[in-house]
Amino acid sequence: MLEIKNLTKVFGEGEDSFVAVNKINLKVNQGEFVVLIGPSGCGKTTTLKMINHLVEPTSGDILINGTSTKEKNVVELRRAIGYVIQNIGLFPHLTIAANVEIVPKLNKMDKVKRRKKTFELLEMVGLDPDIYANRYPTELSGGQQQRIGVLRALAADQDLILMDEPFGALDPITRVQLQDEMKDLQKRLDKTIIFVTHDIDEAIKVADKIVLMKDGKIVQAASPKEMLKEPANEYVREFIGEERLVPEPDTTPVSEVMVLEPLIVNIDSTAKNVFKKMQKYSADIAVAVDDNKRFTGLVSANQIQIQQRKNTTLQQIIQGKPQSVRSNTTIRDAAETLANETRVLCVVDKKQRPVGLVSRTTLLRGIVDIWDESNAG
Ligand SMILES: Nc1ncnc2c1ncn2[C@@H]1O[C@H](COP(=O)(O)OP(=O)(O)OP(=O)(O)O)[C@@H](O)[C@H]1O
Ligand SMILES: [Mg+2]
Repeated sequence: MLEIKNLTKVFGEGEDSFVAVNKINLKVNQGEFVVLIGPSGCGKTTTLKMINHLVEPTSGDILINGTSTKEKNVVELRRAIGYVIQNIGLFPHLTIAANVEIVPKLNKMDKVKRRKKTFELLEMVGLDPDIYANRYPTELSGGQQQRIGVLRALAADQDLILMDEPFGALDPITRVQLQDEMKDLQKRLDKTIIFVTHDIDEAIKVADKIVLMKDGKIVQAASPKEMLKEPANEYVREFIGEERLVPEPDTTPVSEVMVLEPLIVNIDSTAKNVFKKMQKYSADIAVAVDDNKRFTGLVSANQIQIQQRKNTTLQQIIQGKPQSVRSNTTIRDAAETLANETRVLCVVDKKQRPVGLVSRTTLLRGIVDIWDESNAG
């Protein structure tokens, strides 16, 4: 539907020149909801305005359905593209209904049809048409005006709509409500929307594709899901915020790769007895449990060998905090614990009873297997 190629905007000339948008490339499909986001001054508004030639591009091209916007008549182009500007832009001398109907009227839509549509739209965003249709913009609250701005764009039969922070001045509750309404309308009317915001939560919520900009460039363009899962770099991570990031893609629980049926012994057993058992079962590690069969610690054959001549019990050998993870812990998290703290972990069920063991080696083996499997699929 829309293709942006090497689009660049340089303001000013010579030493005073400033590159506001720097060779950006972007494809937008029909019916897609694209959100431009990034810090103030990164070039979002400039990009938007180049699409309808409110700002003339310095170089590069914009194709709408395959035709360069350079080849189009500017008036027709703007009429074909909806635009909700950063500060709403309702005409103060026109009633709400007249504001909503500007473009349909320009496009010579039948008066009755026009009015009917306006009333429907007003109802959709919770503004009673009997009350609001004939009011003037100044008789509306800021939030209500923003609704009308968005409505007006959706009411026009334009496939492509540009919106520059249309919900900027809204309280969080109204904002969330309006996001829902807008998204719903957009899908129903199959509009293609390019939407600018500062609010990452808003972007994640409404976008099919998020375009994160910095200093006039696109840092990453991806679906919210993809961006949360695989931020392109540290800047994206930071912009999204750690708390929103999806933990590593690997969701496989550690129970899938652990070694089953470890040697389990009571914590009060003597080292000597345990060592015998370990030899008998060729176990390098024994899992100590208390009388309730709850995990209390791990001992290695090495540890025990030194101690076994004395009549010491495991209780006296096992030191430090018991190293265990729950069986539903992800492989990724288990790997982190292993990498940082210990060589072997006991996997326990929710009652703290041991169900398996996982060492660095078994974990790596498991990761390689999953890798191979997912590559084969
Ligand atoms: N007409 C202009 N002349 C010179 N510089 C401009 C002009 N318009 C914008 N700029 C500069 O270009 C850069 C990008 O501006 P733009 O309005 O696109 O930012 P933005 O990402 O929309 O920021 P905000 O989030 O604050 O709205 C800014 O540094 C701005 O100062
Ligand atoms: Mg802006």
